[in-house]
Amino acid sequence: FNVPKPQNEPVLNYAPGSAERASLEAALKEARAVVADIPMYIGAQEVRTGKTLELRPPHDHQHLLATFHEGDASHVTAAIDAALAAKADWENLAWEQRAAIFLKAADLISGPYRAKINAATMLGQSKNAYQAEIDAACEFADFLRFNVEYMTEIYGQQPPVSPKGIWNRVEQRPLEGFVFALTPFNFTAIAGNLPASAAMMGNVVVWKPAYPQIFAANVIMQIFIEAGLPAGVINLIYVDGPVAGDVIFNHPDFAGIHFTGSTAVFQHIWQIIGTNIHKYKTYPRIVGETGGKDFVLAHASANPEVVSTALVRGAFEYQGQKCSAASRAYIPASLWPAVKENVQRDLASIKVGPVEDFSNFVNAVITEASFDKLAKYIDAAKADDNVELIAGGGYDKSKGWFVEPTVLRVNDPHYVTMCEELFGPVLTVYVYEDDKFEEILDVVDTTSIYALTGSIISQDRYAVAQATQRLRNAAGNFYINDKPTGAVVGQQPFGGARGSGTNDKAGSMINLLRWVSPRTIKETF
Ligand code: NAD
Ligand code: ALA
Repeated sequence: FNVPKPQNEPVLNYAPGSAERASLEAALKEARAVVADIPMYIGAQEVRTGKTLELRPPHDHQHLLATFHEGDASHVTAAIDAALAAKADWENLAWEQRAAIFLKAADLISGPYRAKINAATMLGQSKNAYQAEIDAACEFADFLRFNVEYMTEIYGQQPPVSPKGIWNRVEQRPLEGFVFALTPFNFTAIAGNLPASAAMMGNVVVWKPAYPQIFAANVIMQIFIEAGLPAGVINLIYVDGPVAGDVIFNHPDFAGIHFTGSTAVFQHIWQIIGTNIHKYKTYPRIVGETGGKDFVLAHASANPEVVSTALVRGAFEYQGQKCSAASRAYIPASLWPAVKENVQRDLASIKVGPVEDFSNFVNAVITEASFDKLAKYIDAAKADDNVELIAGGGYDKSKGWFVEPTVLRVNDPHYVTMCEELFGPVLTVYVYEDDKFEEILDVVDTTSIYALTGSIISQDRYAVAQATQRLRNAAGNFYINDKPTGAVVGQQPFGGARGSGTNDKAGSMINLLRWVSPRTIKETF
């Protein structure tokens, strides 16, 4: 197939005085200058219900960024109807034509829309320029380009064997019905990829983003439309989750869900689908990437500088709100003094503040609810004699939802913050005796219900081999001598198992295959 070979989109550095810095600053200024009025997109219509809700930057809750129009159950039904009306034309379009639309979207993202989508992600989700760049510009464009590459492999698969007089073939059909894409607040790339990957394979989609993501979701939709996506293929609605779910999961044409979000919500949705299973024309595909309690395990042979860098970057980039963020660490006693000193040194130089100041490494957490939850856990830890505060511990909501990067050291490896996903800048450390490495492998494996990411840091090859083997099921993405965040599309397919999801690896052929239903045809001559 004559499709361009994908390459990862280069990450721009936004150095002061650079052209990209000027263009991003202009986009930020422009986005702040007006209060955007954001519609839903249903079929060919921009839908304004008049029931508006506000969007404010998490780091500046005094500023009104935008309002969006919230819909109700009738808009969910309208979105399903629009999707089903678009279905026949879309699925009968040659797959190369569908691919071309998403390749064009990728070029719009990495070209003319780059500053706009980065600015929207910075303001709406409180990501600094680097975090927005690796997410909204690079990872999103990479998802689209690499998925087109995987499409070529799926549609170009060798046919089965055909004896003389018979022609056996396999046709990759889209699912019979519509797909529901339900996206989390924390990645613009995931928001765009979840509806796009199902749509690429010929499906029609109803997409509901988490509300704090709507500012960026609106830009994503503008890009898809400008790239030539026909009306009704992806319908973007802002409806309360359970209200939307009630319509979607009772509909006979519900054919699949592409979900990323919390484990609790995914399990709840799965139960509803199970209860309603007799109502559907076909067994729905259930694809979900969910929570994490991701670990860094250091061996006594590790270089303390490598360990502390993995901890600081892994735990505190994007305020610890990556599903992959390091939130529990296991450090050998002999290494702890040096690691502790390095972490305290690095955190002392890290700035916390709004995204408009490009020197801020840590920005605000996403909502007041998230801030309150984190403050509660931090206060409980500070009041607990068995917990040592190594760094941070402060928080301030006067201007935005700011939580200091916080490091706790615990005596109990099963302390609550070692087990639960807090989704914020809190790292908990357990210091183990150097000669208890094998025992600590068991602790790492059994402490949490999740299995998303984790890393082993060691210069001892045998320890690496032991950890890789013993922690085989503890992480879907396992890193050796690196932080557990920052998977790159096309390089490290991403996803977890256990309580972290169905492990259908976003940005991979495995994922795209979930959005087709093969038909085998035998023709006898
Ligand atoms: P969330 O579960 O609160 O929300 C996800 C989506 O589900 C949102 O669109 C929300 O509105 C919707 N929703 C909530 N309740 C619903 C219901 N009853 N019916 C239908 N829809 C409903 O997640 P979030 O806070 O936006 O995102 C953070 C979570 O996402 C974290 O747990 C994080 O680990 C996870 N995450 C996982 C990955 C991964 O790849 N594993 C990636 C990013 C985020
Ligand atoms: N791709 C993101 C990471 O690996 C989720 O951190």
